[in-house]
Formats: sequence, structure tokens, C-alpha cells
Amino acid sequence: MYWIPDSLRWLAVGIGAVCLITALVSIVEALYMVWSSKVGKLRVRERLLDLVGLRGNERVLDVGCGRGLLLVAAARRLTTGKAVGVDIWNLEDQSGNGAEAAWRNARREGTEDRVDIKDGDARDLPFADGTFDVVISSLAVHNISDPGERTTAIREMMRVLKPGGRFAVLDFRHAREYAGTFERHGAADVRIDGPHWRMFPPVRIVNGIKPPAGA
Ligand SMILES: C[S@@+](CC[C@H](N)C(=O)[O-])C[C@H]1O[C@@H](n2cnc3c(N)ncnc32)[C@H](O)[C@@H]1O
Repeated sequence: MYWIPDSLRWLAVGIGAVCLITALVSIVEALYMVWSSKVGKLRVRERLLDLVGLRGNERVLDVGCGRGLLLVAAARRLTTGKAVGVDIWNLEDQSGNGAEAAWRNARREGTEDRVDIKDGDARDLPFADGTFDVVISSLAVHNISDPGERTTAIREMMRVLKPGGRFAVLDFRHAREYAGTFERHGAADVRIDGPHWRMFPPVRIVNGIKPPAGA
């Protein structure tokens, strides 16, 4: 047996404790992320849809729909309405991204008859003014790095909304900026819901209405 000085023993205990704590924190963080993507994200998605209060007959636009997580959930709440997804299908923003992946998910959930999917950029939405009763978006607008172009995207959402229509935009950044931009473009009753810690990173949902004509 070698003689080990006390100071070295304590150093070893200290290093061991730091390693153990780091490992525990990493495990908890990993579990939080997995729970968030499998359970938390779905609950916050339903919260967003509750906020816009779908009756079933609306035309709904999901901006940056990706593989259709929110789009398909909206379509499930529709009866005679239609949920339209639009995206530029950026593979860096979502793995396996593409219209076909969104259609596959719509079919898997039995909602393909209430879904339509189009190519289109949030900054120049391919729809006439006042086409939609509801505009929703999840984790898409922050991908537009230029603040002026994010403003354009919010302005486009307001343009394609019908007077009296509702919107809800979920994101983990820029919630105050979105809320201010919606207000400057005429939105009413603008609220920031959250933060929702059930998603990682935590998100907020900016929601409100486009005032009815003459209001
Ligand atoms: C992180 S994914 C989120 C997808 C989906 N909304 C969800 O919550 O799972 C971001 C999506 O925004 C899309 N996106 C990014 N910039 C966009 C833009 N300028 N116009 C339309 N879609 C855009 C990306 O292609 C990607 O599908």
C-alpha cells in the first residue's frame, strides 16, 4: 500500500463529487429534453390551439409548418374547415423536413382531407388578403435572423387574416418583439401566454385578434 497524503485524498474526493454532480445534472437535463419533446411539446401545442378557440369550420394557416406537428393537431379539431401549412422546408431547421413528411403525418392522423400543404415563405405569403380565420405558427419565425424580415413575416400574418380572425405564434425568442409588431399592425387584445416550461427551451405564445371591420 502506498501512502497518499490527505490533501491528495480530499482533492480526489472533490473531483469525484464534481464529476458526479455534473453527470446528474446532465442526466436530468437529458430527461427534461426527452420529456419535453415527447410530452411537454404536445401539451403546449394543445394550449396554443385552445387559445385560438377553434369551432371546426375555420380556414387555418400554419406558418412554417415543417413536418406538421401543429398543422395536424389543428386539422384534428376541424370538421368542415381546412388547415393549410406553408413552409420553405429548411433542412437545417428541422431534420427530415419536407411537404411529403407533413403529408405523411397528416395521413397517419387521418386528417389528410382537412389539410393542404404549400411551398411559401413567411415573408411573402402566397395568399390573398383576408384568406384565413386563424393564423398559427410554432418555432418558425425566430429562424428569420433579420429583425426587419421578422416584422415583414408578422405583417404578412396580419394581412392574410380576415377581420375578426385570431392568431397565436409560439416561440422561444422574441415574444415581446412579435407582440409589439402585431400591435403596430393593428392587432387587438395582444397577450403573451407563458413562459411554458413544459417545452425545452421554454416558450411563450403571442396571441390576439385582428379587429373586425369597422371596430
Ligand atoms: C423548428 S421547425 C418547426 C416546425 C413546426 N412548426 C413544429 O413546431 O414542429 C421551423 C420551421 O420553420 C420553417 N421556416 C423557417 N423560415 C421560414 C420562412 N421564412 N418561411 C416559412 N417557413 C420557414 C423551417 O423550414 C422549418 O420547417
